[in-house]
This record gives sequence, C-alpha cells and structure tokens, in this order.
Amino acid sequence: MTVKEEERYRRLSEDLIGDWRLKQMKNYIQHGSITTYDHCLQVARTAFSLKCSLKINCDERALVRAALLHDYFLYDWHDHGDHLHGYHHPYIAAEKADMDFSLTEREKRAIMTHMWPLTLLHPPVSKEGWLLTLADKMVSTRETLFMRGRVEV
Ligand SMILES: [Fe+2]
Ligand SMILES: [Fe+2]
Repeated sequence: MTVKEEERYRRLSEDLIGDWRLKQMKNYIQHGSITTYDHCLQVARTAFSLKCSLKINCDERALVRAALLHDYFLYDWHDHGDHLHGYHHPYIAAEKADMDFSLTEREKRAIMTHMWPLTLLHPPVSKEGWLLTLADKMVSTRETLFMRGRVEV
C-alpha cells in the first residue's frame, strides 16, 4: 500500500482495533496459534490492500468494519459442538457485531456471506463482500498451512 493508503487504513480501523469489545477476540484461537483478533486484523488489512492494488472503487469504511468484525462470534469454535460452525458463524458474528457496533446493511451482508462458497446459495452481493470473502480465504490458508504454532503430537 502507498503511504496515503496506509494512512487511510489507519484512520478507518483505529477506533475498532482499540475497542475493548473487539479485543475480546484475543481470548479465542482461530487457526494454529493465531487468535481471532489477529486473524480479523490480518483479514481487514489484506482486504483493504486488495482493494487498493486492484483499484476497486468501493465503500472503504464498510469494507474495513465488516472485515474487522467478520468473525465476531466470541467463542472457541473448536469446542462448539455441532460441526456446523462454518455455516452458522457468519450469522452469529453479524448479529453480535450489529448489537455492539450498529452495522449498516452493507456491512452486515458482507459478514453474512464471507464463508461463500460454503454457504452455496448466499454469495456476496457487493464489492465489499467479495473482497472480504477473498481476503478471508487468503489469510485463513496462510494461517492454517504456514503459521501453526502448536506442537503437533
Ligand atoms: Fe469466518
Ligand atoms: Fe475469518
């Protein structure tokens, strides 16, 4: 990202990144040894960087907010029972994030569709939603394959 883009990203993200409610995601592991908080920060930065490098004109605020909150489900999904976490958590995250941060429809919809194509019939419907879905997959793949901090026995 250019210096100007970095500055725009910082301004758009700093409130949420510093919010104590968002920091609750530090209590949960997403992949390997990466917390959900760090995962969401990486996804937001990647989504914004993709938007800049592909020169996509979109609602930058909605993109950054949806990305920072896309996994705001606030539980350890490894212990979460029914093996359908992949399908359910976008709706749980959107609902909890809306309660705590009053999302716009565009932000909510981007969060709800971020697991596509797992949620086959509910693809993203905006540029923000597509950027979030792509960034989440890029970051999740990297975390799962290359950043496994736990010792496997
Ligand atoms: Fe997710
Ligand atoms: Fe994610």
